[in-house]
Amino acid sequence: MNVPFVDLPKQIEIFKKDLEPVIREVMFQRADFIMRQDLLDFEKAFAGYIGAAHAVGVANGSDALNLCLSALGIVPGDEVITVAHTFVATIAAIHHCGAIPVLVDVADDYNIDVRLIEPAVTKKTKAIMVVHLNGRTCDMDPILEIASRRKLAVIEDSAQGIGALYKGKKAGSFGVMSTNSFYPFKILGCFGDGGMIVTNDKTLDYTLRCLRDNGQDRTKGDILYYGWNSRLDNLQAAILNTMMPYLPDMIKRRRAVARRYQEGLRGIGDIRLPPYNSDDTFVDSFQNYVIRTSRRDALQKYLREHDIGTLISWPVPNHRHRNLQLDHFFLPNTEAISREVLSLPMHPALTDGEVAYVIDITRQFYR
Ligand SMILES: Cc1ncc(COP(=O)(O)O)c(C=O)c1O
Repeated sequence: MNVPFVDLPKQIEIFKKDLEPVIREVMFQRADFIMRQDLLDFEKAFAGYIGAAHAVGVANGSDALNLCLSALGIVPGDEVITVAHTFVATIAAIHHCGAIPVLVDVADDYNIDVRLIEPAVTKKTKAIMVVHLNGRTCDMDPILEIASRRKLAVIEDSAQGIGALYKGKKAGSFGVMSTNSFYPFKILGCFGDGGMIVTNDKTLDYTLRCLRDNGQDRTKGDILYYGWNSRLDNLQAAILNTMMPYLPDMIKRRRAVARRYQEGLRGIGDIRLPPYNSDDTFVDSFQNYVIRTSRRDALQKYLREHDIGTLISWPVPNHRHRNLQLDHFFLPNTEAISREVLSLPMHPALTDGEVAYVIDITRQFYR
């Protein structure tokens, strides 16, 4: 058996029949490519799904972060608190607006350790950029409480958070703005790059719409900002909107796969499984199913020899990449995690047989 980490052709089969006529119509009949009705329709559907008032389609999840910080008015010298255990784009966005990334450690659920946020706040701190990693939300209540007391903005990097719930509310619905990525490996992935910013703030929505379109308000003919060309392609929006009705079932399947892993891998070797809560505070959407083990590299090799694909996010933590000039941060849990984590195959088209095979080979390794 061959079980790749993700299997895009098999995943696309889920909605292929629906997508083919949509692509044909948008491309060949309407030739609707930039900022057309499909984009507006998808923005509306996505905002509704998250439970927010507005959504602005942008070119990718990295640009979404850049535009959020720009819309907030973050300027050189400001500090933004975030984590090192994230995709580098989170930290790069802070750097790109001239601000200073202040990195704090993560807890054992791979998300920001809320106890470390307040000690990192200074007079220069303007925002906390939380990252909902692996399809699990951060512990939002204490984060929102600190932010409100210290007058800081909260931005959620929800590139990996779509569908995750915290006390019944969706990831991406807590901060002043939240960002999403539709990179093909993501829970909702398009046929290329794509991203979205979600907000309840009408003024920010307007600013973001201008910023993504070279700073222009096309209806008035005004140029209000130095902006970017960072629009979500209309064709990608049409594709994503066609996938939207499948999203709840795709997440349900991820949760079912996670449950099988959880049952099949409990108590094996020194494997540490993702946190599972008995109450409904956190309901994860499993962008990734991440295990921890001191024998990570050997396990990955063994799984590869048995045609099982895995992913390490990330073998070298961001603050250990010398050219990023972040190595003054002391982040012991982030470093331990980087040595020990392994993401197992996880996507909605995984069969029970494939999951059982991954569990069997993992058990075999520890025997
Ligand atoms: C946590 C996180 N933030 C930001 C991004 C950037 O998204 P994109 O690849 O769409 O630019 C990603 C994508 O991998 C991510 O995982």
